[in-house]
Amino acid sequence: MSLIALGVTGGIGAYKAVEVCRGLQIHGHDVVAVMTRSAARFVGPLTFEAITRRAVITSQWKFGMNADIEHVAIADAIALLLVAPCTANVIGKFAHGIADDFLTSLYLATRAPVLLAPSMNSNMLVHDAVQRNLHTLAARGVRCVEPGDGYLACGWIGKGRLAEPAEIVAAAVAMLAPVDSALSGRRVVVTAGPTYEDIDPVRYLGNRSSGRMGFAIAAEAQRRGARVTLVAGPTGLEPPAAEEIVRVRSAAEMHTAVMRAAARADVVIMAAAVADYTPADPASRKVAKTDGPMTLTLRRTPDILADLARLPSRLSSGVPILVGFAAETDDAEARGREKRARKGIDLIVVNDVSRSDAGFEVATNAVTLIDAEGECAVPLQSKERVAAAILDRVEWFVRARTAPPVRA
Ligand code: PMT
Repeated sequence: MSLIALGVTGGIGAYKAVEVCRGLQIHGHDVVAVMTRSAARFVGPLTFEAITRRAVITSQWKFGMNADIEHVAIADAIALLLVAPCTANVIGKFAHGIADDFLTSLYLATRAPVLLAPSMNSNMLVHDAVQRNLHTLAARGVRCVEPGDGYLACGWIGKGRLAEPAEIVAAAVAMLAPVDSALSGRRVVVTAGPTYEDIDPVRYLGNRSSGRMGFAIAAEAQRRGARVTLVAGPTGLEPPAAEEIVRVRSAAEMHTAVMRAAARADVVIMAAAVADYTPADPASRKVAKTDGPMTLTLRRTPDILADLARLPSRLSSGVPILVGFAAETDDAEARGREKRARKGIDLIVVNDVSRSDAGFEVATNAVTLIDAEGECAVPLQSKERVAAAILDRVEWFVRARTAPPVRA
């Protein structure tokens, strides 16, 4: 049995949180309800008090609340923070670290996993501000139960309705289930984001990678109990929690960081969009413009995956297991197959980046996993779910190859 903090915020779906609370209890969990001021306008705290048999937290400023700094005490005690319904307002506060009431302070104070069930008008849901906030939270490892389609309280029909209580309960229960993963205790290196290749002190060659795909893999590997080293190129997104985070800028820096981490790794997953070329002779001072064209001579960057494939441990025992990505716009699968063979890696994740809803920057992806055993299409879904599909396959490799026990 785990203690779950059930955050209830001010949306019309607040009444459904009562059913969520009951569902969690039926699964054997203990619930403490934390209501925002607006939530208490939709449903009475007494209802939650009667069901949870615990005092309902509605304010940070009640007498007795600060005797043992309640939000910190609860933050330590809970196994999960679930917010259902979660309004656009609270999503925004979580994303930006605003702690102006008990629930938002609890979010910052807890190290427990966080699950949100957003609920709002469909135009609000697709608004750039809300989407960006959701992306920020997803990159931090916060999970969401997708809102449903249908009639909304405001009279509109569209996406934004609070997911069904049973779905929310199932997602919460799954997050609390002990993870029986082949990755548990394994050292996993994940790369994410772009690399920047400097032309001079103010200009560089870069690419559109946001780091989102690699961050989702790192977060999922961490959830499965892996000891994750995340090697991240320059990106504006906040990385998820990991045992070690190494920030790099260029392909050469990424090469150094990955080769160092790979010496002890069981698995290396290269989701980063590493530059293939870098300026041969970067200028130490800003290059002045002229009226004529500019010629830039580029040289190849070190091929990190190919170097990993030549590691002695890899040649002798097949460890680390190597996963590469192939970002392609034409003949994606055929090129992916060829790339896997040429780089001498176990699994390649083929990413058709000609689609607007997959690949660079967006929150969703659709890929094909190719290895020596065959191919498997992973249809369009959130990058978090794609990450889970990739790691399911990686686990198969870890089991099949019976990788040696984790080295200290
Ligand atoms: O970051 P996001 O916005 O979420 O976007 C995700 C993504 C599109 C960046 C990701 O899904 C993806 O496809 N990553 C690989 C992009 C890429 O560089 O593909 P490639 O086909 O050029 O490289 C093939 C593989 O070799 C990659 O695993 C790459 O990390 C690796 N590589 C490339 C160059 C190099 N010098 N060394 C390498 O190891």
